[in-house]
Amino acid sequence: MNRIGERRTPELKMLIVDDRKENLIAMQRILQSLECELFVASSGNEALSLTLRHDFALILLDVHMPEMDGFELAEILRSNEETKQIPIIFVTASNKEEQSVFKGYESGAVDYLFKPVNPDILLSKVRVFLELNMRKKELECIQSELERSNESLKEFAQVVSHDLRNPLNVISGLSELLLVRHSAGLNEKGKAYVSQIAETAGRMTALIADLLSYAQVNAKAAVVSEADLDEIVRLVVADLSATLEQCGGEVQVLDKLPVIAADSTQMYQLFQNLIGNGIKYHRPDCAPIVRISLQAPADVPEERSGVSVAIRIEDNGIGMKDDDIPHIFSAFRRLDNARGYEGTGLGLATVQKIVETHRGTLAVSSTLGQGTAFVITLPAEWSQDNAS
Ligand SMILES: Nc1ncnc2c1ncn2[C@@H]1O[C@H](COP(=O)(O)OP(=O)(O)OP(=O)(O)O)[C@@H](O)[C@H]1O
Ligand SMILES: [Mg+2]
Repeated sequence: MNRIGERRTPELKMLIVDDRKENLIAMQRILQSLECELFVASSGNEALSLTLRHDFALILLDVHMPEMDGFELAEILRSNEETKQIPIIFVTASNKEEQSVFKGYESGAVDYLFKPVNPDILLSKVRVFLELNMRKKELECIQSELERSNESLKEFAQVVSHDLRNPLNVISGLSELLLVRHSAGLNEKGKAYVSQIAETAGRMTALIADLLSYAQVNAKAAVVSEADLDEIVRLVVADLSATLEQCGGEVQVLDKLPVIAADSTQMYQLFQNLIGNGIKYHRPDCAPIVRISLQAPADVPEERSGVSVAIRIEDNGIGMKDDDIPHIFSAFRRLDNARGYEGTGLGLATVQKIVETHRGTLAVSSTLGQGTAFVITLPAEWSQDNAS
């Protein structure tokens, strides 16, 4: 298999079109030193049929030919989806009339050479075009390789989640059964071991869920539709109610949040991670309060005003050091302040990816021991234009 990093040089083919045999021979002689397969055609029609069978990196095209001249042939090539990208070097006698015709070809990759052809100039022009074509082909190879590996990753994530979740569920279920039904047969140490097994299995289940949502945000294109942020945040808060009750925390939504053009599932993940962190990283002596508000237009960066809404998610938790802030978005990165708090370090990496996917921005400010504020800008409010 051809892997990224060990790419083979794609095969290059070039076509020379001229109605005079001696010109074709002369060109071939000059160009034979290039690592490129040379094809020749002595008429426009012959050239057309060759372009249908071969993928040419470049055509060297004589302008003056009987029947179909070089410009007519170029016109036909440009009108065909399969051949319109092929760069052309026109070979012509230097005269002003023709130079003005060349202007019509400015949009495509076009150059020209004047007769008598200087071999050095010919070689260097051809080299540039071939080099460009090679880079283009390499990029296409990388692109399709990336698409393939993205697909494999998606499949891998699905298989892993399925195959790992099942045995984990069995471990969790059996350890619970042991504790509930057979604890009489276990001494204190035995019970502690079983509880530890159940806890570890629970942590692993959470890790798999986090990994999956991170992988999915990376692999799937966002499905943009009407996303009602007010409703989404209420849903997130409802789903966090047990956690909030445990710590006596509160989430205050201070403004009515808008309906925007976004992927609702990803918006849920985004708020779940940010609000979840605000609750989780609370000071031991202080119940968490997470405040969600709309940032005033004056505080939205100028280049984004009118195209974005800005939302502030602020907590009164443990905070973090300024130096640490740039690291919190790396996958699996947890700061020292997270010691003693459960987590996998994937939440904010997922949030960042979601914001990027929506062409938004993300800013953080924090004071150690006092709290943290995240400000995200997201696409502007949903309008009829979004629907078309
Ligand atoms: N609101 C916050 N207050 C203080 N520290 C925070 C806050 N949010 C994030 N952090 C720090 O940033 C790190 C990365 O956060 P992130 O949400 O990515 O991971 P996590 O919460 O550790 O795990 P999980 O994958 O379960 O979300 C955290 O481990 C913590 O150190
Ligand atoms: Mg988190």
